[in-house]
Amino acid sequence: MSKQFDVVVIGAGPGGYIAAIRAAQLGFSVACVDAWENEKGGPAPGGTCTNVGCIPSKALLQSSEHFEHAGHAFKDHGIDVAGLSLNLPQMLKRKNTVVKQNNDGILFLFKKNKVTFFHGRAAFAGAATADGYPLTISAPANETINAKQVIIATGSNARALPGAEFDEKLILSNTGALAIEGVPAKLGVIGAGVIGLEMGSVWRRLGSEVTVLEGLPVFLGAVDEQIAKEAGKLFAKQGLNINLGCKIGTITKGADNVTVAYENAKGEAQTAVFDKLIISIGRTPNTDGLAADKVGLKLDERGFVAVDDDCKTNLPGVWAVGDVVRGPMLAHKAEEEGVAVAERMAGQHGHTNFNTIPWVIYTSPEIAWVGRTEQQLKADGVAYKAGTFPFLANGRARALGDTSGMVKFLADANTDEILGVHIIGPMASELIAEAVVAMEFRASAEDIARICHAHPSLSEATKEAALAIDKRTLNF
Ligand code: FAD
Ligand code: NAI
Repeated sequence: MSKQFDVVVIGAGPGGYIAAIRAAQLGFSVACVDAWENEKGGPAPGGTCTNVGCIPSKALLQSSEHFEHAGHAFKDHGIDVAGLSLNLPQMLKRKNTVVKQNNDGILFLFKKNKVTFFHGRAAFAGAATADGYPLTISAPANETINAKQVIIATGSNARALPGAEFDEKLILSNTGALAIEGVPAKLGVIGAGVIGLEMGSVWRRLGSEVTVLEGLPVFLGAVDEQIAKEAGKLFAKQGLNINLGCKIGTITKGADNVTVAYENAKGEAQTAVFDKLIISIGRTPNTDGLAADKVGLKLDERGFVAVDDDCKTNLPGVWAVGDVVRGPMLAHKAEEEGVAVAERMAGQHGHTNFNTIPWVIYTSPEIAWVGRTEQQLKADGVAYKAGTFPFLANGRARALGDTSGMVKFLADANTDEILGVHIIGPMASELIAEAVVAMEFRASAEDIARICHAHPSLSEATKEAALAIDKRTLNF
């Protein structure tokens, strides 16, 4: 007889594994099925985020930043580093160790929370019966199980450019970009989005000459314009060669290089030869192998699993969360949806607030924001006030030796409610949390301006930016 579960989660990325744990905490019998394999063929739960996304990219960003600081920034602190050299195999090995610690951590959490884990690919085997949905699981698990309710959390894959399929040797997706075995002298990147900038930064710091070719005429269109402009200047100063308005033509692979023909923003024909080419032009939802058609699961016109505001699909008892559904493709958005769905299943009122999902780009300096940009407020006809404070005037940033960037507050002109906070600068990824909390509680800029912040700390720049709304900064 097939094993019977209240809830089966398909996919153990951040959306899936968190949903499984929360559902188990709420008293359901839960299984989670994940297909990801490590190099030994064993399970590697954690999805894109843990295996080829958030975690390994941040490990390499950290290592490459240390390398760059050891080469330049340490000298200013009075630390002379003689004979600095790069041990790339060790850097990649450390990154792999960090990934494995996360894989093992998730397996431990499953045990702790009594979630049954199956390693294999799950597929719908047919319509729901009195026992729920029958699901098959491929090798190595080789099981058939029944689920009263199903959460689909199958994530996304890198989008390829037509005619330039990923081989992960010369033409790289995020997977190959995180595992280049020798620093390429010339690295091409197509797409100046989050992956392009993060991966471009890693390899530039390690010694590559990096050329980024972006299709749109504007840089970081989703980011507040003032912040994006500052970022563009700083990245150019670092040596990232970012070309906007490029129309990519033919991509030709040689024995050990790739030639990209493109038109630049002036419409002039160009060719560039790279040792490796990263293509980071967005991601597509992953419903491969689910046999969604067997049960009539509805997909939208872009291939995402169609869901309502509560993450319910068109099938009773089937939910979907994370990258495979609409909304930002972010690990914490997937997690929030996973928790909310588990709580809804238990009759609670799980909630995901799309207005307060933070975004972070882990370049140096980091870029982080929550809420609306100044250009969005203008387009929406909202009366607003803006306040900025530069890290140059922050004592902790000066002590750190990292004074680039600013904090920017946008507040409603009438009510003073915070509508958006935008940060470019050191530790922006951590600083943004205060703004998220404030916005979740619908705080005013004045609330932040009147809260005591530790001195000396980078967070004082947040308080000062809030003070700047009414032109009463104390340190600038
Ligand atoms: P995924 O993490 O993609 O997990 C889906 C899982 O389902 C996979 O393990 C897959 O093997 C499995 N699966 C698929 N189909 C089946 C099936 N039929 N049966 C069994 N298993 C199946 N986001 C951030 O918030 N912060 C970051 O810093 C960040 N950095 C990133 C860096 C890179 C290079 C990339 C590529 C992405 C990054 N992201 C980041 C995005 C983040 O990785 C995704 O938003 C997140 O992983 C989505 O989680 P998910 O659970 O929806 O899907
Ligand atoms: P992206 O959407 O961030 O950027 C893609 C870029 O490629 C855009 O600027 C787009 O205009 C450009 N582009 C698209 N088609 C093109 C073409 N044909 N020619 C030239 N340029 C083209 O996507 P990216 O960088 O692939 O990342 C995917 C997603 O992964 C992100 O949107 C994000 O959700 C997630 N991610 C999050 C990270 C984080 O939170 N720090 C880090 C990395 C990824």
